[in-house]
Amino acid sequence: MCGIVGYVGPRQSQAILISGLSRLEYRGYDSAGVAIIDAEGDLGMRKRAGKLQVLRDDLDARPLADGTTGIGHTRWATHGGPTDGNAHPHLADDDKLAVIHNGIIENFSELKAELLSEGFTFRSETDTEVAAVLLGREYRASGDLVTAFRAVVSRLEGAFTLLALHKEQPGLVVGARRNSPLVIGLGEGENFLGSDVAAFIEHTRNALAIGQDQIVAITPDAVEVTDFDGNRVEVEPFEVTWDASAADKGGWSSFMAKEVSEEPEAVANTLRGRLHDGQVVIPELDGLDELFAGISRVIIIACGTAAYAGQVGKYALEQWTRVPVDVELAHEFRYRDPVIGADTLIVSISQSGETMDTLMAVKYARERGARTLSICNTQGATIPRESDAIVYTHAGPEVAVASTKAFVAQITALYLMGLHIGRIRGTVSATDSAAHVRELEAIPGKIAQILEREQPRIEQFAHWMADTRSVLFLGRHVGYPIALEGALKLKELAYIHAEGFAAGELKHGPIALIEPGQPVFVIVPSPRKSAEMHKKVISSIEEIRARGARVIAIAEEGDAAVLPKSDEVLRIPLAGPLFEPLLAVVPLHIFAMGLATAKGLDVDQPRNLAKSVTVE
Ligand code: F6R
Repeated sequence: MCGIVGYVGPRQSQAILISGLSRLEYRGYDSAGVAIIDAEGDLGMRKRAGKLQVLRDDLDARPLADGTTGIGHTRWATHGGPTDGNAHPHLADDDKLAVIHNGIIENFSELKAELLSEGFTFRSETDTEVAAVLLGREYRASGDLVTAFRAVVSRLEGAFTLLALHKEQPGLVVGARRNSPLVIGLGEGENFLGSDVAAFIEHTRNALAIGQDQIVAITPDAVEVTDFDGNRVEVEPFEVTWDASAADKGGWSSFMAKEVSEEPEAVANTLRGRLHDGQVVIPELDGLDELFAGISRVIIIACGTAAYAGQVGKYALEQWTRVPVDVELAHEFRYRDPVIGADTLIVSISQSGETMDTLMAVKYARERGARTLSICNTQGATIPRESDAIVYTHAGPEVAVASTKAFVAQITALYLMGLHIGRIRGTVSATDSAAHVRELEAIPGKIAQILEREQPRIEQFAHWMADTRSVLFLGRHVGYPIALEGALKLKELAYIHAEGFAAGELKHGPIALIEPGQPVFVIVPSPRKSAEMHKKVISSIEEIRARGARVIAIAEEGDAAVLPKSDEVLRIPLAGPLFEPLLAVVPLHIFAMGLATAKGLDVDQPRNLAKSVTVE
C-alpha cells in the first residue's frame, strides 16, 4: 500500500526514482510523484493523479530539473481522494522540505488542529501533509532533519513509513518506520531506501532491514540507523536472492501471465533443499522440536488468498499432526479475545509479509504468550521479523496485485511444515512421509502439464464467457477453499459477481441462486482416490443441473462420470486427495485472468486494490 523510494549518490536521481516506482507500482497506483534537490540546490516537485505513466508523460512534457538527491512515491489513497493535490510528495517549510508517506497517521486531526491554531495552512486533505508541516515546524526549531524527525515521530500515532529531504541539507534522505515497511539498499558511493527491495534491485542486492520504530539517515557514503530516542542500533544485512529480471515482465503480456506460468517453479523452489530421502528437512525450524511436540493447537492467521491457502493447509496439518487447526482471518482474530497460550502455535501466512491485519494479529498473539511461525515470500519483511520462526516460500517476486504463484507456494510450505511436525510428533510414519513427499515432488510437473495442455482452451472458453455477470464455484473438502479462491480471483480481476460454496452447503440455501444458464464451476474429487466424496459431488452436480445450471467441471483425467453431467470439463492430472488443490486452482487462475483479459481489463492492477495492504 503505497510505494516509497529514496536515492542519494552521484547519479541523476529522476530515472532511478521513476524506475524504482515502476517496480513498486503494484503497491498502489492512484497517483505518483517525485521531489528532487537539483544542482542549484533548489527543491523541485512534480506529482500527478493516475498511474505512473501520467507522471512520466508530464515529466517528459515539462521536464523537472534533475539532481542527485530525490524521493518518489506511488499512492493507494487512504485520507483524501486520488487527486493531484493529495498525491505525494507534500511540501512544507516554505516548500523547502518534501515528505512522502505510507500508512495512516491516526491522530492527524488533533495534530492538524494544533498546527492550524498556530497559523499553519494546508493544501491537501491528507494525513501526510500534517506530518510534513509538523516536520517543517520542528526543522525550523532545530535546523537539522534527523533531529526534527525524532521530534515528529514521537507525536505520531498509527502506522507510517516517512521519507523526507530538505533543500538546506542536500545529499541526505531521512526515513522512519513504524508498522510499515522500509528497507535500505547499499550501493557503491550511493544509497537507496525503498518500501521493498524491488525499489533498488537493479542497482544493488545488498540490503539492510530496518526494525520497528527506527530512523534512518542516508548520504552517498553512510547509513545511520537510530531508534526514536536517537540511540544507534545495529541493523541486519541481507543479500537479495532475486535478480532484477525476476521482477520484470520478461516478454509476457502481463505480470500475472508470467506469474501463473511460474506456478510450477514456485512449488519446486519452495521444495528445493527441503526434501532428503523421502523426508522433509527444514533447516529454519531446527531447534523447535520441543515446541512442535508440545503444541496443543494451531491457529493459522492470514487474509484473502493467503487465508484460503491456510484453509487448504488445515486439512493436511490436522491429518498429519493430529493437532486441531483453526484458520482465522487476521482482522477478525484479535478483536474477539481469542483463547491462546504458550501451547498455541500461530502460523501466519503472508506473501508480502507486510499485511497490517496479519502483522497486528501476530503481535497480539505474541503478547499473549503464543509462539509464532511465519510463512512469507518476501525477505526482510516485517511479519517474519516479528515472528519466532520463518519458513520462506520461494515463489520469487509476485508483482501482479492478485496472488497466484504465491498461493501454490504457500500450500506447499504448509504441507512441508505439516510433514515436519507430523514426524516430530510421531503421527506420520517414515513410509507415509515418503509417499507424501513423492506426491509433492510430482506437483510442479503436473502443473506444467495443465498449463501446456489446458491453458489455450481455458482462455478460449473464458473469452466466450466475457459477458457473464455471475459465476458460482463449488468444492468439497480441500476443494472448498479452492472454490473460494476461484471466486475471489474472478471478482478482483474481472469485476464479476462470483461466490464460492462448500458443495454440501448448496441445499441449505445457495441453490436458490441457480437459474437456467447460471455458470457453476465444480471441483470434482478423484473417483479413484476419493470415491465417496466423488459420488457426493456428482450428486451436487445433478442437483444444479436439474435446475438449469451450466456446469464446468474441473476433474481428473479419466473421470468419465463427469462427462455426461457437465457442459465443459477442464482436466487435471491424477494426484492424492490432499494434493489436488495444487492442481485444481490452476485452471481457475487461468480462467479469471483470461476472462479479465477478454474484457480488456488490466489484470496486473485491478481497480481499487493494492498488493501490500499496510493499513488496517
Ligand atoms: C488476492 C490477494 C489478496 C492477498 C491478501 C493477503 O488475490 O492477493 O487477497 O492474498 O491481501 O496478502 P499477503 O499474502 O501479502 O498478506
